[in-house]
Amino acid sequence: MTAPPLIQYGVAIDPNEMVEPPDPEELAIDPKTPGIDDPEYMRRRRWIFQLTRKHRLERLGPPLFDYTPEETALWKDVSGRLHELHEKHACQMYLKAKHDLAITEDAIPQMRHLSDRLRQETQTHLVPAEGSLAYRTFYEYIAERGFPVTQFLRHPSHPEFTPEPDMIHDCLGHVPPFMSRDYAEVITLIGKAAATTHDGEHILLLKRFSWFSIEFGLIEEHGDTRVFGAGILSSTGEIPNSLYSKDVSRRPFVTETVIHTDYDPTYMQKDLFVIPSLPFLRQEAENLVRRLGIEVAS
Ligand SMILES: [Fe+2]
Repeated sequence: MTAPPLIQYGVAIDPNEMVEPPDPEELAIDPKTPGIDDPEYMRRRRWIFQLTRKHRLERLGPPLFDYTPEETALWKDVSGRLHELHEKHACQMYLKAKHDLAITEDAIPQMRHLSDRLRQETQTHLVPAEGSLAYRTFYEYIAERGFPVTQFLRHPSHPEFTPEPDMIHDCLGHVPPFMSRDYAEVITLIGKAAATTHDGEHILLLKRFSWFSIEFGLIEEHGDTRVFGAGILSSTGEIPNSLYSKDVSRRPFVTETVIHTDYDPTYMQKDLFVIPSLPFLRQEAENLVRRLGIEVAS
């Protein structure tokens, strides 16, 4: 009897791709990406792709960048608007971490400096990434307490939209929570489990656990629902959508439900889950890994 196919984003996938993912050497860009017809922008994207890929593969840490005036103007615009929303809707852990890391709208932070600070605080670090990495490759770095981050910026014609993670998403969404010990341990455990297992289905279930928490999680705080997932924190549209839209369901985070819920990353999210606390999430991650029977090295 053959096993039922694994479904991701509504389509059947090859489990082997989860276990032995491809690693493209050239920038492959979605045709819907704003800026694809702007030769200057694409030249810079290709240059950043090659530089950050080299730094990743040679384990050199994030390169330092001289950001252009256009990139800085874009950062100021988007991060300024996000900052106002964060003050109102982000969870306390995030606000404190962003403040402690001195991430402001005044200048684009250098990932290298943020990485040094995370190393001191939670023994984690940032890995330069040329773009989205295949899930297992991504989690192999996380298993070593490194988080892959991009350093290019989206095209200024669409300041609120990027079809793939960019500097704004990674720096404002993913980096600050790494200042939290519980958060760092949850993600490291998921990384170790995904890097250890040879079962494509396990990797898919871990990916969903991560998507509905690290990427799109909400958190309960003093009787209020606050934002904690990176995909929400880095989007001026997703913050109000996640908290107030009538089209969004906000259910308590029940791991069994979460790992069996498919999602589509290309649309505004309609299924969200609320965690009661970060220690709860850490416990749930430990239980899940144990239940899947994945033996992770401590
Ligand atoms: Fe993300």
